[in-house]
Amino acid sequence: MSRYIIEGGNPLEGSIDVKAAKNSVLPLLAACILTEDKVTLRNCPDISDITNMLKIMINIGCVVERDDMGNITVDSSDIYCGEVPCVLAKELRSSIFLMGPMLSRVKKAKISYPGGCEIGMRPIDIHLSGLRELNIDINEEYGYLDCDASKAEAAQIVLDLPSVGATENLMMASVFLEGKTVLRNCAKEPEIADLQNFLNLMGAKISGAGSSVIVIEGVKKLHGVEYTPIPDRIIAGTYIIAAAMCSGNVELRGVVPEHIYSLIAKLSKTACKIYCKNDKIIVKSKGRLRSLDRIDTMYYPGFPTDMQTQMLALQTISKGTSVIVENIFETRYKTVPEFKKMGADITVRDRTAIVRGVSRLKGAEVCATDLRGGASLVLAGLAAEGITEVKDIYHIDRGYEDMSRVLAELGAKIERSS
Ligand code: UD1
Repeated sequence: MSRYIIEGGNPLEGSIDVKAAKNSVLPLLAACILTEDKVTLRNCPDISDITNMLKIMINIGCVVERDDMGNITVDSSDIYCGEVPCVLAKELRSSIFLMGPMLSRVKKAKISYPGGCEIGMRPIDIHLSGLRELNIDINEEYGYLDCDASKAEAAQIVLDLPSVGATENLMMASVFLEGKTVLRNCAKEPEIADLQNFLNLMGAKISGAGSSVIVIEGVKKLHGVEYTPIPDRIIAGTYIIAAAMCSGNVELRGVVPEHIYSLIAKLSKTACKIYCKNDKIIVKSKGRLRSLDRIDTMYYPGFPTDMQTQMLALQTISKGTSVIVENIFETRYKTVPEFKKMGADITVRDRTAIVRGVSRLKGAEVCATDLRGGASLVLAGLAAEGITEVKDIYHIDRGYEDMSRVLAELGAKIERSS
């Protein structure tokens, strides 16, 4: 099993180019099967979530080319009736994104029920009730969802919660339905607008993404395109916090500052300086930062749940006490016992964490339990005194391309060891 070995205490300095967002690339890959033409996505990171998604797509008959410049080309002209085998679906929750496009393209989909995961229950009831409102027949048997869209029709749907995945799935499921489908109470995350832009470039007629009402006017056919997805706001945010924790002077290139404004606004209340210009963000930090009184995770444009653990890592060494409330997922404090091994002072009650900043964390052997939690332990290790070993880094590989190389180039002492 691979691990990161980190010698903490070195300042970070230099530049990072941010690649396309994992959470955009995954639904966009699924959307590639909406056309028989070839589709190319550019600037994609080499991460295991994308590799696993491509494995699933190859399994349903897609031909995939991936080069080392980050271009992925999908040819789905020969896909057969969509069945996603259980072993593959279990490895990647995002396989659920294939439901909408498979139902649009081949009118049938059989996919295993994705279970809960490291950060919570993650039900798919909103995906399923929306698909049923489109008159798609869904049988739930032996852990499989067997769906038939031969009688699907446009509808007006109100989502119970603004779920990102359900909004995306329903957009893709209704793209060919005659008439107008209206989705209300949609998620407003930037990845939704990215999906709308991508589908419209392929010939779809969708409007409203980024607001809570999305209108999809059915079209007959989509065609192939080349597209560069939006940059990864969570990767950018993670390295911004790394710089904030390590007396950094770091420039991020190829980002959309607006997408992480909630993080920038929070950090601007500490002694950390953040400068934004066009597609660049510069972070300058020196010494110990002030704690933030309160951080509540919320739907976009609120503070993202995917940045909560990195922010918690920063609070462990800030001056003062911070209250963090996780409003999106039930079990997103699994990394807390690992931070405690490093000397952090944290109390968790239900969805609230109270973090009393200590002057220094101490290196320890810790274990990644999920993607963002694992990355946050790396940040803690960079700022800690002594050596930190982060085990089970396959969780980090799901979403961070070569994290040790990126950080080593900034001056961190970090090695990957098998
Ligand atoms: C996406 C992101 C994930 C991020 C999350 C919230 C991708 C690939 N993943 O996940 O990184 O943390 O948004 O910003 O884009 N819910 C239900 N029923 C459903 C669906 C969701 O109750 O059918 C609940 C969830 O349990 C959760 C909330 O709605 O409490 C938000 O989940 P959702 O927006 O669907 O997250 P994902 O799309 O799974």
